[in-house]
Amino acid sequence: MSIFELAENSWGSEPKLDVDALRRCFGQYATGVTVMTASVEGEPVAMTANSFSSVSLDPPLVSWSIKRVSQSFSKFRIAEDFAVNILADSQVDVSRNFGRSAGDKFKGIGWKRGLNGLPLLDGAAAHIQCRVANQFDGGDHLILLGRVMAFEHFDRKLLLFAQGRYAVAQDHPAIESSVDTTSTRGPSDSFIAGLMYRAYGALAERMEEVQRKQGFTPAEARILGAVATFSGYTTSELMPELYLGESAAKSAFASLRASGVISIDAKERIAFTELGNAKLALLLDALRRQQDQLLGGLPDEDIEAARRVFRQMIEMSRRQSARI
Ligand SMILES: Cc1cc2nc3c(=O)[nH]c(=O)nc-3n(C[C@H](O)[C@H](O)[C@H](O)COP(=O)(O)O)c2cc1C
Repeated sequence: MSIFELAENSWGSEPKLDVDALRRCFGQYATGVTVMTASVEGEPVAMTANSFSSVSLDPPLVSWSIKRVSQSFSKFRIAEDFAVNILADSQVDVSRNFGRSAGDKFKGIGWKRGLNGLPLLDGAAAHIQCRVANQFDGGDHLILLGRVMAFEHFDRKLLLFAQGRYAVAQDHPAIESSVDTTSTRGPSDSFIAGLMYRAYGALAERMEEVQRKQGFTPAEARILGAVATFSGYTTSELMPELYLGESAAKSAFASLRASGVISIDAKERIAFTELGNAKLALLLDALRRQQDQLLGGLPDEDIEAARRVFRQMIEMSRRQSARI
């Protein structure tokens, strides 16, 4: 904890404002992240901002503030409209891109034009298009008040910014514990296989997103996980562990081999290359972080119990197939 008093101290001299300490203190207030855009003489202009706030519903008003020393300040000051692009949790790169001064910030970014040519970014969680209603002095910032002219939002998770870091939202454990996990509504709430199928579906999309960002298809990522687990296996020995159709597995093996991630010798034995080992480490690290986020609200002992049950099921099925 740190305490800074800005009032006159007992010696009668006013202490110097510690701007960094004040910034850290302001950072205790979590926000979303937006990219503010405008079109000035047809030229798109944009910057990352978390000073956005909704102000009024009737009339519909929002505000944000822009640092006077920003390169795009002169443009936003004269713009008649601005668009608020509320970023989704997959858009950290977009936030970073527009959070720096650069020539063409729109290079490589997907966007379209909205009202009066306002740039609207692809993949955002919401677009709010505004007409500037007023501007106010805000010290080293200028406060812009906008009247909402159009808005749309999409079913995406949000990017947050708190304590100087990017974050994602998850339900508070106090809310999760109020979810009744004991009552069942029907067969897919009571059959283990049905529950596993649905639980897998609930996680798979996010995990696959991470796999793709690391450059792998879900099938390739599954193979990498299996090769790391069952070292020294041949391609055919690995097949029962993959739960992939033969042609999907074959083409995933081929592309992993072609990209130099794995090697397959004359006896079909698979091994990671040096590049493969490095890529695997990155993939596992990213997947672990995603899994921690997805399961963050669950008690550790529940997660461990689930792991135990799944391992037992796999072992039981192995023993049964061995008997047949
Ligand atoms: C998460 C985040 C939030 C930001 N919020 C604001 C803000 O509300 N107002 C502002 O003026 N700058 C804000 N910035 C900084 C600007 O995005 C940054 O100064 C950028 O370089 C401005 O672009 P420009 O120099 O091209 O004008 C923020 C940056 C980040 C990463």
